[in-house]
Amino acid sequence: MRKYSLPDDFVDKLRSQADIVSIIAEYVPLKQKGRNYWGCCPFHQEKTPSFSVAPEKNFFYCYGCQAGGDVFRFLMKIENIGFVDSIKLLAQKLAVPVPEKEQSETERAREKEREEILRANELARDFYSACMTKSALGINALAYLTGRGLSVDQAQEFRLGFAPDDWDKCATALQKRGISADILVKAGLAIPRPQSGVYDRFRNRIMFPIEDIRGRVIGFGGRVMDDTQPKYLNSPETPVFNKRKLLFNIARAYRAIKQAGFAVVVEGYMDAIALASNGIDNVVASLGTAFTPEQARMLLHYAPEIVFAYDSDSAGQNATLRALSIVRSSGAVVRIASFPDGKDPDEVLRKYGPQLVRERITAAAGLLEYQMEQALSGVDYSDLAGKVTVVGRAVPYLALADNLVEVDTHIARLAEKLAIDENSIRGELRRARGENSQQRPVAVQVKRGADSKLTGAEEIVLRQALEQPESVQSIRSQLSPELFQPGSRRKLAEAIWRSYSDGIPASPLDLLQSLDEDTAKFLSRLTMQEDQGPEKDQALGDSIRIILLAKLNEEYEAHRMQADEMLRQGDLNYVQELKNAQRILTKISDLAKSPG
Ligand code: UTP
Ligand code: MN
Repeated sequence: MRKYSLPDDFVDKLRSQADIVSIIAEYVPLKQKGRNYWGCCPFHQEKTPSFSVAPEKNFFYCYGCQAGGDVFRFLMKIENIGFVDSIKLLAQKLAVPVPEKEQSETERAREKEREEILRANELARDFYSACMTKSALGINALAYLTGRGLSVDQAQEFRLGFAPDDWDKCATALQKRGISADILVKAGLAIPRPQSGVYDRFRNRIMFPIEDIRGRVIGFGGRVMDDTQPKYLNSPETPVFNKRKLLFNIARAYRAIKQAGFAVVVEGYMDAIALASNGIDNVVASLGTAFTPEQARMLLHYAPEIVFAYDSDSAGQNATLRALSIVRSSGAVVRIASFPDGKDPDEVLRKYGPQLVRERITAAAGLLEYQMEQALSGVDYSDLAGKVTVVGRAVPYLALADNLVEVDTHIARLAEKLAIDENSIRGELRRARGENSQQRPVAVQVKRGADSKLTGAEEIVLRQALEQPESVQSIRSQLSPELFQPGSRRKLAEAIWRSYSDGIPASPLDLLQSLDEDTAKFLSRLTMQEDQGPEKDQALGDSIRIILLAKLNEEYEAHRMQADEMLRQGDLNYVQELKNAQRILTKISDLAKSPG
């Protein structure tokens, strides 16, 4: 979201027209020394000048109080005004009229491209649909779907289709309708051939269109009809298709979600289609990838509660546990439906009918109830060792829960089930809570603190990215922003990485506008530093390695500590944690050995 309503290029033009030295000199007496100008900082009390202005870089920076930025930041700070007002003020000083808002050229181009991609997807959906229902090509596909219990009407309701077993039928059909090869590729519908031309990405597959909330086709999943791998081929990331944000069937489901007060989330296309065409309209599919906070937020927009109905095999249960830890922090009320025989909801529905699925969804367990079941599952608790294991697994969940009535209920139930005294569970719980509060600071200490080597490495990488935009691509492919220490460093990395994916080379001045105060100060400091020497490529490689190693070390410590904790709680899965730690240790020594 843009914070101001003036055109981008106007700000840039204005800045380049303004002479930062003479604007600042209106407020602060400045003296030239070398390339830069110096004065006493207007933002803090001082007698010796530590405030400098670099006309070549269009930046100011105070070495005393770290205030810094471009001419707009200076005006905002000294006049105590907002960004838009600083633009108007500068325009006034330069006697330049302020234009009305107008979309910038790049914004218009990007918007146009998105529209064209959506149009191509819509035409592709219609093409695939016609291939299935109106052509002999789709006979097998239709037979496959009816074999799985879908009627032709249902297939059409979800606009399912068939991608013919051919190299360019779809591309040719769409090009005839005016879609360029370039857009076909950008939409992920086609892949460029080595020499020239394109070929279809989806061939001989049942096609599932994926729509956004407004019903526009943003991408596809294509399923094989035999055992070929991959079972489902999905659209790649495109300007309109972001896997973290999609929910299959959301356009059809959101009203029902509102009405029901909860959303049902399943894993697969066929699960969602099976449930939705049997009267469970408030269903969406997360499509096999890990459930994301973005998906949680989308659903919370319509209802406060999410019922997970993932596959009941172990992969599905693990996915459920992962989803739960994500949703916990989003504030959603969570329940978990479980189905018999390790099947997915689609199969359960075919085998036992929609009534059972509906019952299981209604009776879905609350979060804590599900966690207690997980603690009990697979353990023979007839002997003492088994009881200890179950209590050890259950207590961390109980300690995290915040509804005390619920906690009490579950302690009582668990005690009864294990045939032990409630007080022994309570004792463990008290111990866990007490120990936890002492333990937390330790966990925090393990987080990368002010490690000066790491700090220096981060600065070298960020400076390189700022000074040589052409190096950003390579840096980005090796490091993600989360690897930087939290705060200004990480925020600056995010801004650089993002601006690069938006296609704008990350110049410090471009970035400045979107940064908060502290991050802007940090950026200003980096920008004002003297240029890096001839060894900067070597330094960059070393620095990237230092950052990667710091992260691995942190992960290693986390697994070790987790293993210790589990061991103390009598959880035998600590062995797995130790293995994870060992695996990371191997990576660390590989990375330390690699040339660079
Ligand atoms: P499943 O393997 O559980 O598939 O993957 P499914 O939904 O039961 O599929 P059917 O019933 O055999 O047709 C769950 C989801 O994970 C994604 C798909 O979205 C699928 O619906 N997936 C799975 C892929 O994207 N690619 C794959 O190769 C496999
Ligand atoms: Mn299935």
